[in-house]
Amino acid sequence: MGYAPSELALVPFVSVENMMRIVHATGIERFLAELARYIEEDFRRWELFDKTPRVASHSREGVIELMPTSDGEAYGFKYVNGHPKNTREGRQTVTAFGVMAEVDTGYPVLITEMTILTALRTAAMSALAARHLAPDGARTMALIGNGAQSEFQALAFKALVGVDRLRLYDIDRAASRRCARNLAGRGLDITLCGGPQEAVEGADIITTVTADKQYATILTDNMVGPGIHINAVGGDCPGKTELHRDILMRSSIFVEYPPQTRVEGEIQQLAADHPVTELWRVITGGTPGRSARDEITLFDSVGFAVEDFSALRYMRALLSGLPYFDKLDLLADPDDPRDLFGMLMRAQPQAA
Ligand SMILES: NC(=O)c1ccc[n+]([C@@H]2O[C@H](COP(=O)([O-])OP(=O)(O)OC[C@H]3O[C@@H](n4cnc5c(N)ncnc54)[C@H](O)[C@@H]3O)[C@@H](O)[C@H]2O)c1
Repeated sequence: MGYAPSELALVPFVSVENMMRIVHATGIERFLAELARYIEEDFRRWELFDKTPRVASHSREGVIELMPTSDGEAYGFKYVNGHPKNTREGRQTVTAFGVMAEVDTGYPVLITEMTILTALRTAAMSALAARHLAPDGARTMALIGNGAQSEFQALAFKALVGVDRLRLYDIDRAASRRCARNLAGRGLDITLCGGPQEAVEGADIITTVTADKQYATILTDNMVGPGIHINAVGGDCPGKTELHRDILMRSSIFVEYPPQTRVEGEIQQLAADHPVTELWRVITGGTPGRSARDEITLFDSVGFAVEDFSALRYMRALLSGLPYFDKLDLLADPDDPRDLFGMLMRAQPQAA
């Protein structure tokens, strides 16, 4: 076949292997801190983004979602799934990949794995929110749900918030043990707890990052004392929540994009007009974050497309200085742009 792709045909592609190389070359805590800075920059220019709730296809066991957005110059989207039963079959709950394209031509400029990148961006987003919402001097975090996302959350809170004491709880003790093992030697004082009540004792921050395809009650009202910051990550689909409604009634609630969070977040349990604050308003300084010591603040995280856009933007910046990508023959690029058919025919195998 007489075919050699042109430069225009080739799109930088970051495989899982290369993503891991990039994270190690950067250093994971530095990666989390820089990624948080990219997210922060994009939240500061929130109003210019083209925003829509993600497009979700629900099924009995899970959800598959497409998450698009654009800042007018670049366009990005992520494909992501959520299947809580997957870990029982040796698969991940969440997998993802994403694309960034140039708005001017519509040509993709990056295609990348995003399973690892999603864990990093979710953790960076959580820690960025906590910087504005957690009580001053917060050092102790209860981390409930010790699956794939958990170590990333722990390290982002260490790097960005100053958390150095972790209280782990998972219904599966082996998951907590793995999490503790993976985090050993990173300057975190880790306690394994026997239940959620024990985990929240003395915590300034509670992160819930469990996976269950139903209305779950990971935290009940009596477990949440005044002044706590809750980072609720695992409730992110219709019918899939983690907090008792009474906690929400006592909390100041901060969200990413209300039209999506009202459907997917903890606040799906509340009236459609229950007051919530958009995080970008806090990040730009227009609205206060935490305003009293005894206030309970809640980041009702569901994950929004702008955060993935920031992650893609950060990857592009990193790739300008690192060799860790392949060039994928992704775009058919005939010499004469209208001769797509001719290009196909010229590639026909010749009879021997
Ligand atoms: N908000 C976001 O941006 C965002 C991003 C990524 C993932 N998520 C969500 O975060 C959750 C965790 O994702 P993951 O990849 O770590 O999943 P995972 O399946 O790897 O881990 C989930 C863990 O939760 C534990 N668990 C389940 N029910 C529990 C309970 N009642 N109490 C304590 N532990 C419990 C499980 O044993 C498991 O170890 C999922 O629900 C996922 O959809 C949200």
